[in-house]
Order: sequence, then structure tokens, then C-alpha cells
Amino acid sequence: MRKSIYVKLVLIFVFIISISNFIAFFSFYFTTAKKLREDIGTETVKLSKQIKDICESKNVPESSIEALLNDSYYNVKFYDNLSQIEADAALARFFDENALKPLVQSNSESNEIKLNTRAPFELSITVTRINTSEGSKYFIVYPDLAKSLFGVRFLIMRVNSLALIIGVIMTLLAAMIVTKPVKALKAATHRIAGGDFNVNIQNKRKDEIGQLIDDFNIMAKELRGIEMLRNDFVTAVSHEFKTPLTSIEGYTKLLKDCKDDSERNEYIEVIIEETRRLSKLSSNILQLNRLENENISLHKESFRLDEQIRRIVLLVEIKWTEKNIELDIDLDEVVFNGNEQLLYQVWLNLFDNAIKFSPTGGKISLSLEKEGSAVKFRIKDNGMGIAPEQKNRVFEKFYKGDRSRNSDGNGLGLSIASKIVDMHGGEIKIDSEVGKGTEICVVL
Ligand SMILES: Nc1ncnc2c1ncn2[C@@H]1O[C@H](COP(=O)(O)OP(=O)(O)OP(=O)(O)O)[C@@H](O)[C@H]1O
Ligand SMILES: [Mg+2]
Repeated sequence: MRKSIYVKLVLIFVFIISISNFIAFFSFYFTTAKKLREDIGTETVKLSKQIKDICESKNVPESSIEALLNDSYYNVKFYDNLSQIEADAALARFFDENALKPLVQSNSESNEIKLNTRAPFELSITVTRINTSEGSKYFIVYPDLAKSLFGVRFLIMRVNSLALIIGVIMTLLAAMIVTKPVKALKAATHRIAGGDFNVNIQNKRKDEIGQLIDDFNIMAKELRGIEMLRNDFVTAVSHEFKTPLTSIEGYTKLLKDCKDDSERNEYIEVIIEETRRLSKLSSNILQLNRLENENISLHKESFRLDEQIRRIVLLVEIKWTEKNIELDIDLDEVVFNGNEQLLYQVWLNLFDNAIKFSPTGGKISLSLEKEGSAVKFRIKDNGMGIAPEQKNRVFEKFYKGDRSRNSDGNGLGLSIASKIVDMHGGEIKIDSEVGKGTEICVVL
């Protein structure tokens, strides 16, 4: 059987309380017993003096005194002479005969002797002579140890039992307070393990368990966010894949029954273009995934940044010449230490956007300059621009602005660029006005 933390705590607490009570009982009993015995001895002597006084002056009968002390912690017994004491069989359990001898022989008026008895402690006993008109008599006074010590023992045990009962009740309550949040955490963890991230534990505590619950709630919130992102990502990926695939399927069907060569070539062109889109999409997704999982260690080397940008301009020449775009290039000579391959992707994506979102006959300016230890790259177009409410979203994966929805692309270019700039400790800023153009600035 798996014991719950509640049962364990209660058992531990009860065990501790019992042990401490047990120790307290014995230490108290043995330390106070010595003092108690001394007090009893003093009381015995005092009592015997009082009895002697009463008997000699007030002439109170012995039977009355014996009756008076009957229920007390002291025993009193009268004798006509000392030999009677020696012969008293009832006393034999306390004394051995030799113990009384010195007392009897000394014949003094009052004597206190301490005797080792069979009880665990010494016993004080007094033997006193009284002188009445009828002659001398003796009486002895001795404490009823069994009665007095039993009384103390009983008292301690009652206090102990009460402490034990109160302790157990408080333990049950304390264990409940301690285990309640743990139980809540257990239930919440169980729900998360089952895939339900909609969990929030109420928490008023400020102690370690309270902090644990706070962290747990943060974790659940993060997981909720990740789950939402994952769902969005899957939806977006499937959507982006579906469009070119549907078009490939459609054109392939058309191709099957097509006899006209020029039409066939047209269909084949579309299929090739869509396949290229698919291939770009999958490589972009793969790259973004690699960048986000930081699988790429940032291998840095020094290279000419201005030359890299010039190479890109030449690479996509066909695109900007097709649209009859005027270029204004002003690149300072800059040697930069970074990952050449990744940064290539940044300039390419930014330039690709500028061309894509520029009108035919538009103008694009590119500039690169050094600003202290930083490098500033600027790309400006006079294209359609980005609406203010979309400016912050363009870096999201698969985000495409409303008016660029039908344009070629999957909305991954800026996500990849910003991630790479981020990895270089840089910053990317957008300044744009709808209908006027966009300026993107990268500071590394
Ligand atoms: N220079 C720009 N002018 C106007 N809008 C832009 C410009 N650059 C980016 N955008 C807007 O930001 C969106 C996201 O850009 P991003 O480069 O991430 O995606 P994309 O170009 O649509 O697709 P991909 O880059 O994956 O081919 C674009 O769809 C567009 O709406
Ligand atoms: Mg793009």
C-alpha cells in the first residue's frame, strides 16, 4: 500500500510527540522525586513534633490521631515500648531489625532515621517518645511512599496524556494544512500529464510551497502558450503546403488530357514554379526550426559585408530588372565578424521583400555604413508599405500582411531574418507608411 504524505506526516508527528512525552515523564519524575523525598522527610519530622505536642499537652487519644492521618500520605502507629516496635511484623517490610537498634538503645526523645527500603528511594521514619501522666509511650511516623509517589506519577501521566491528545489533534490539522497544497499540485500535475494545460492553482501562501505553486502556474501558462503556438504552426504549415499541392494536382490533371504543346509547356511551367515554392517552403521551415532549436552553432568569421550585399544584388538581378526597378546603392567598405552564410539569408530576404512589394518602375535604396563599433544596413523602397497595426506582426512565423496575401511567399522571410540578427546580438527596425514605402534598418 502506498502511504500518503498525510499519513506519513501524522505518524512522524505522533511518534515525535510520544517519544518527547516519554522522555519528559521520566526526566521529570526522577528529578523531582529526589526533592519530593526530601520534602516528605522534613514533613515527617514536623508532623511527629506536632503529634507529640498534641498528645502531651491536649491529651488527644491515640486512636483519634491514627484515624485523622488514616487517609493522608503519612502513617502513624503507637507503641507502649521500643521492643514492640522491633517486634512489629508489619514494619518488617521497611526495616531490618538492626536498623532500629541504635534508635532503641539511644533512648532519646525523638529520632529521625533514614532507611533503605525496598522502594526505589530512602524512607524517612521518626520514632518519638511521648511522656504522658500514664508514663512513656512511643509512636512512629513514616510516609506512605506508594501513595504519595503514585499521586505524582498519576498527575504527570494525566498531563502527558492530555499533551498527547492535544498534540495529535494539532498534528492532524497541521498535516492537513501542509498537505493540502501538495494534493492540489498533484491533481494539477495529473491534468497536465493528461494534456490539459488549462490549470491554475489558487495560491495565497508566500512560503516555499507558495513559490512552488506560483512557478507551477507560470509553467502551465507557458505550456498553454506553446501548445497554442504549436497548433497555429501546424495549421499554418498545412495551409501553406496545401495551396501549391492543390495547384500541382490541378495542372497535372490538365496536363494529362492536353494535346496542345504550348498549353502543355504553360502547365509544366506552373508545376515547376509550384514545386519550387514547396521546396523553398520546406527549406525555410527547416532552417527556422534549426535556428530556433539553436542547433546551429554560430560559427563566426571576418568577411566583407558590402561585397556580400553586392553579390545578392547581382544574384536577383533578374527580379529587379523585370520590374524595372531603379537601384541606389551606397555601401561603405565594411569587414564584419559574423556568420557569413546566415547573414547572406538576411540581406536576401530583405531585398526580396523590397522588390516584391515595390511597384513596377519603383526605387530601392541600399546603404551600409559603420557607426562606431556598429554596422548599419538600410534598405528603403517606395512600395505599398506596412500598416502600423501589422508592423509588429511581420516577424511572426507565416504572417503575411492583408494586401500581400496573394503575393508569392509564406511569411517566413522576416522571421528567419530577425532570428539571425538576434543571434548576432543585433536589432532590426521597421519604419513604414502605407502607400509611401518601407525602410528597414539592421544594426549589428
Ligand atoms: N518591404 C516591404 N513592403 C511592404 N510590406 C512588407 C515588406 N517587407 C515585408 N512586408 C510585409 O511583411 C510580411 C511578412 O514578410 P516576410 O518576408 O516574412 O514574408 P513574405 O515575404 O510574405 O514570404 P517569404 O519571405 O516567406 O517568401 C509580408 O507578407 C508583407 O505583408
Ligand atoms: Mg519575404
